[in-house]
Amino acid sequence: MKRRTFISLSAVAAATILIGQNFIPSNRINASDFKSRLPIPPLFEGEEIDGVVNYNLNILEAKHSFFKDVQTDTYAINGTYLGPTLKLKNGKKVSINYTNRLKESTTMHGHGMHLPASMDGSPHQLIDPNDTWSAQYTVKQRACTNWYHPHPEGRTAEHVYKGLAGLMIIEDDESQNLDIPKNYGVDDIPLVLQDRFFDRDGQIYYSPSMMQAMSGYISDTLVTNGAISPYIDVEAKEIRLRLLNGSNSTVYHLKFSDGRDFKQIAVDNSFLQKPVTLDYLRLSPGERAEIIIDLQDSLGKSFYLKELKTDKAFAKFNVSKQVTKTTKIPEVLTKLEKYSLDSVTNRRKFVLSAGMGALYINGESMKMDRIDEIVPINQVEIWEVYNQRMMMGMQHNFHIHGTHFTILERNGKSSNVYDNEKGYKDTVYIGSGENVKLLVKMTDYTDEKVPYMYHCHFLEHEDAGMMGQFIVRKDTI
Ligand code: C2O
Ligand code: CU
Ligand code: CU
Repeated sequence: MKRRTFISLSAVAAATILIGQNFIPSNRINASDFKSRLPIPPLFEGEEIDGVVNYNLNILEAKHSFFKDVQTDTYAINGTYLGPTLKLKNGKKVSINYTNRLKESTTMHGHGMHLPASMDGSPHQLIDPNDTWSAQYTVKQRACTNWYHPHPEGRTAEHVYKGLAGLMIIEDDESQNLDIPKNYGVDDIPLVLQDRFFDRDGQIYYSPSMMQAMSGYISDTLVTNGAISPYIDVEAKEIRLRLLNGSNSTVYHLKFSDGRDFKQIAVDNSFLQKPVTLDYLRLSPGERAEIIIDLQDSLGKSFYLKELKTDKAFAKFNVSKQVTKTTKIPEVLTKLEKYSLDSVTNRRKFVLSAGMGALYINGESMKMDRIDEIVPINQVEIWEVYNQRMMMGMQHNFHIHGTHFTILERNGKSSNVYDNEKGYKDTVYIGSGENVKLLVKMTDYTDEKVPYMYHCHFLEHEDAGMMGQFIVRKDTI
């Protein structure tokens, strides 16, 4: 597949002469990049009013500095690119108040949040310009790293690409009591991993061709928390990284430049029962991973978080700071409840496929007024998801709103489920021609009218129709 090259060499030369700026940052580790400090999204703990924790967020048009002396037009939440990190506590009532200051409607979805369908921020909860919409619910889930992003029908990809996304950190008693790094921005570092195309003026360039809608809009410049090739100074101790693949459609293959090991402690919606030692991590769009790197013996060293396929780096770590407080990652992190397979009452099958200019689940493209599945509450179900084998293989993943699942099998075998997938997930990678079996249970919330979504989280695929809707009902079928 041909990657769009819209910046010709002469254009770059012209731009360089004009304003002395080269708009193709290399992200290469030997380049003279990695001179700007990693931005950390501000932490919003909310304001408690009458027992409800309020978060006030403004969705804005903004200008952001990706490049020196250049103002890039963006969409943002409160700042100039991305949004603040919201800190939520399990058991608390929250009201997340989004005011739309854009010239167009959008929505804000709580990805990974267990909440009523009407509070989901799906395509059905459009926020018109100058309106405020509040997501109000009681946080009812385990500690994890979730995120919020727009979800308007057919426009999700563009809105996210322009800069709309932010993290949500959910804490519970367990996470607060574990001996793991918790000092936000210091030893507990959020990393929103994205890639972007910039045009010759340093503006974000989003214009997928039909081919790119199919392949995904895979862009050439890596961006970390809104910065290109940043560095961060860290202490010589255990450091926790909260990784979000916030890209539109790029699967990241992550490794550290010195090949060091790390321990994954959490997936999308929960801790893993035990830390899993890895030296490589695959993260597909929408997925999160929390990892711990042990830097106790690395004082004075520098290394990079690399993307293997492109041989580029997201960020540089300089282990340069004196240790203030050490931690010791425990051997057991949590205990996860397992549903017995005997309790499975229903199976559903979802086939992801592609046609001419449209993408399908079970042969249908998303329709706002069509409900595809009716799911009874409190029933344990198996959802089988197939990435239909095609001549030109396509990668997908599968995301379900409002709940968390576990992965039972990949390609018919439980042994194909990786150790670092054995937690509660909301998004699962499905390679070309592969299939997964998920254990799904919808709990707590029913709504006769407002659906939840399931979809491929490659945003170009989602916008091209690879999405369906389901209602959660009280009665059994
Ligand atoms: Cu991250 Cu339906 O979304
Ligand atoms: Cu979601
Ligand atoms: Cu897809």
